[in-house]
Amino acid sequence: MGMNVIIHGRNAERFAQVEKRIKEVNDLVEVKIIKADFGQNPQEAADEVLSQIGGLDISVYFANAGFAVPDNFATSNPEQIEMLNTNVVTHQHILNSMCPKICSRTPNTTSGKRGAILYTSSLNALVSFPGTAGYSATKSYMSSFAQCLALELKPRDVDVCVIQPGPVNTRFHARVGQEVTPSFQSPESASTLIFKSLGRFPSVDSGILTIIVRMLTKIVDANALTLILGKMAPNPPKQD
Ligand SMILES: NC(=O)c1ccc[n+]([C@@H]2O[C@H](COP(=O)([O-])OP(=O)(O)OC[C@H]3O[C@@H](n4cnc5c(N)ncnc54)[C@H](OP(=O)(O)O)[C@@H]3O)[C@@H](O)[C@H]2O)c1
Repeated sequence: MGMNVIIHGRNAERFAQVEKRIKEVNDLVEVKIIKADFGQNPQEAADEVLSQIGGLDISVYFANAGFAVPDNFATSNPEQIEMLNTNVVTHQHILNSMCPKICSRTPNTTSGKRGAILYTSSLNALVSFPGTAGYSATKSYMSSFAQCLALELKPRDVDVCVIQPGPVNTRFHARVGQEVTPSFQSPESASTLIFKSLGRFPSVDSGILTIIVRMLTKIVDANALTLILGKMAPNPPKQD
């Protein structure tokens, strides 16, 4: 696409791996690295990201960073707040500053350029499972926010798209103690789908499980579906 790339994360080894893979695809692409932890202080993390971006002209902003922690609201879990900060609050601080700049790239201005904003939500935005209250709520926020934003920014020729993936084969599952199975989709299939959908749909479901659940939400009463899925889901963490 002729764009340079800014990647964000926390781990130097992974930065090197991602940069190498980008260069293997196109060694003319310049890669800038921004290190920031989104989980502790959202305003500080956003300020760090924005100051490192400086005056660079951002055309596509992809809010993807996120993780899940299993819930147990009968006991204290400090990682809950870290998850909320990472999955929602820091992204929101960054968007609040970046969105006006992306909007100013539209054909209505002298620059004549378009912009795009992408979000990673989840299958969990569609349904309720025991043990996922906090994570599901962060992803519901992403899906609702992105779909409203898509309508709001359409007249400005800024494309917004949110993806609801089912299970994807990434590091995500190790953190919640889940095993990856061969039925999981590849990260490439989910990322290809969101870029293909950009400018065509504001929201896209990825993977067979999300598609089946989406169909069930259309034909089964919401309360009945919650009860059925609640019974099918693994038992939530034992409450002391
Ligand atoms: N895998 C799935 O089955 C699945 C399904 C639906 C939705 N999702 C969503 O997909 C997105 C990407 O996850 P993934 O599956 O690719 O998992 P992953 O391999 O664990 O990647 C998570 C990404 O989020 C970043 N991140 C996590 N905690 C962070 C923090 N405190 N501060 C800054 N960055 C942080 C990680 O950066 P580091 O490199 O520094 O760790 C990494 O870039 C997440 O929003 C996740 O909720 C995943």
